[in-house]
Amino acid sequence: MKTKLTILCENSVGVPFGVIGEHGFACYVETDNRNYLFDTGQGFGIIQNSLALKKDLREIAAIMISHGHYDHTGGLPAVLQVRGPVDVYGHPDIFMDRIWSAEGSTRYIGIPHSRRYLESLGARFRLETGMVAVGPGVFLSGEVPRVSAFEKGDAKMTAVADDGEKFHPDPLKDDLSLIVDSDKGLIIVLGCAHAGLINIIEYALKKTRQKKIFAIIGGTHLGFASDEQFDETLKVIERYNIERIGVSHCTGLPRASMLHAKLKDRFFFGSVGSTLEA
Ligand SMILES: [Fe+2]
Ligand SMILES: [Fe+2]
Repeated sequence: MKTKLTILCENSVGVPFGVIGEHGFACYVETDNRNYLFDTGQGFGIIQNSLALKKDLREIAAIMISHGHYDHTGGLPAVLQVRGPVDVYGHPDIFMDRIWSAEGSTRYIGIPHSRRYLESLGARFRLETGMVAVGPGVFLSGEVPRVSAFEKGDAKMTAVADDGEKFHPDPLKDDLSLIVDSDKGLIIVLGCAHAGLINIIEYALKKTRQKKIFAIIGGTHLGFASDEQFDETLKVIERYNIERIGVSHCTGLPRASMLHAKLKDRFFFGSVGSTLEA
């Protein structure tokens, strides 16, 4: 299946015309059969950037949500107002209350809109814990088992406990990745890779029974990873001979520079306007 990905929202811009950057992520996915939107950014850039890049949000067959953080879900109302009623795929935990806490300060980082409000704009939520085929050759991973010993999660991410008072580490079970079965092999599109990139790679191969990953694109969260986790992730990228790595968002510039130094031409920045074809 021929596939084209275009980054619509990201922290930086990669084209010199009419687009804006924001902390967040969104990716437009075109296939032989249908087009889709994976994540929506915070909501500042999704409409402007889709117009500038000529990616018609009225033509998407479904929206997929990688996880319930504000920087991936905040653009949902804007997209729904353009698209009208549409299926929205994700994990049941996307509506959890979430808090970022570091250096003595806290901040709400959960989805900034209520389910009822989004449904009033036409969202038809399809929330599942397992892998879902969203369309021909297009899969949302479902919960990714946390197997790798090197991937410890991000301690600054917390969620409100059931008693409504205490914070506890956020398991981010809702962290899902998009898997496209393209002509050149699997393409994995990450939101923030909170499940761990090694875990995501291994799970995608196991579940699809494919051997070849052509490309990975999106937020790797390697900007928050230990040196050990970073090194082990590089080893896995080499082991599976992944041909294209387009990093975005929570990768951060220092880790992106290190990846470029190691991967050379296989590396690219997944900035607003970056594309990948297969
Ligand atoms: Fe993020
Ligand atoms: Fe996130």
